Amino acid sequence: MKVAKTIELVRSLVKAARSSGKTVGFVPTMGALHTGHISLIEAAVKQCDFVVLSIFVNPTQFVPGEDFEKYPRPIDADLQVCEKAGVDVVFVPTTEQMYAAENLTWVNVEKLTDTLCGRFRPGHFRGVTTVCAKLFNIVAPDVAFFGQKDAQQTVVIKRMVADLNMPLDIVVCPTVRQNDGLAVSSRNQYLTDQQKQDATLIYKSLQECRQMVETGTTEAQKIITRMRQILNRRPSIEIEYISIVDAETLRELDRVVGRVLVAVAVKIGPARLIDNILLDTGKR
Ligand code: PAJ
Repeated sequence: MKVAKTIELVRSLVKAARSSGKTVGFVPTMGALHTGHISLIEAAVKQCDFVVLSIFVNPTQFVPGEDFEKYPRPIDADLQVCEKAGVDVVFVPTTEQMYAAENLTWVNVEKLTDTLCGRFRPGHFRGVTTVCAKLFNIVAPDVAFFGQKDAQQTVVIKRMVADLNMPLDIVVCPTVRQNDGLAVSSRNQYLTDQQKQDATLIYKSLQECRQMVETGTTEAQKIITRMRQILNRRPSIEIEYISIVDAETLRELDRVVGRVLVAVAVKIGPARLIDNILLDTGKR
C-alpha cells in the first residue's frame, strides 16, 4: 500500500494502474475509519482492480461552530485499517494541497441541498460537492463508493455527477449498524455510555416507522408524531428534524407512497447524529 501526500503522486499511481488495464475504485473519507468505511472499501475491492481511499477532513463542509477542530484524526490507526482491508493507495492531502489561499470556484447543487441537513448546515453541501469534484478530478476513478448513512449526500453527489457529466459511477452501500441498531459513525465517540444507549432510540424510531408503513399507515404526520414520542423518551435527545421525503427529489411528502426516505437528525450531548431508512411501497 502506498501513502500519497501530493496530488502529483496519487495521479501518477492511478495513471500507472490504469495503463496496466486496471479499473479504479475510490472511497472518499474524512478518516477516523470504522466498520462503515470498511464496508465501502470491501465493496470497492470486490468491484475494482485498484482502490484509492482519501482521508481529508474538509474544512469547507464544516459550518462555523461545528466540530472541525476536534474531529478525530487517528492517522496511524487509519492507515492500518486501509492496509488490512486491501486499499492500494491512501491519499492524505494537506489543506494547502486541496485549496489555494483563496478558493474562488465552488460546486453547488441547488434545491436538493435546501432540505433536510442542508437547512440546518448552510454551506455544508457546497463544501461536500466542491471537495468531491476536486477529488474526482484528482483521482479520476471509474467508480466512487458512498454510504447510505449520509442519504442526502448520496442524492446530491449523484446529481452533481449527472449534471456535470462526470465520467464515473456512484455506488451506494448499505448503512452499517452496531448490534443495538445504532448507525456506526466517527461522531459516536463523542458520546458517553448513557448517551450511546439513548442514541439507539434513533433507529428504534425508524423501525417503528417501517412497522407503521408495513401495517398500512400512510399519513406522514401520524408517523412523525409517533417517532417524535419515541425520541422524546430520553431528555438528552434534541430533535433537529424528522422528515419523510421523496427519495429522489427530497421533497416533503404528506403520504408515504413510492420510494420514500425517512431521515432523522438529532443532537445528543456534543454530537449531531443522523440516520435514515429507505422504504418502497411499490405503488404511487
Ligand atoms: P465520512 O463521514 O468520513 O464518510 C465517508 C463515507 O463513509 C461516506 O460515504 C459515508 O456515508 C460512509 N459511511 C459513514 N458511516 C457509515 C456507515 N455506518 N455505514 C455505511 N457507510 C458509512 O462523508 C464524508 O466523510 C465526507 O462528506 C466526504 C464524502 C469524504 C467529503 O468530504
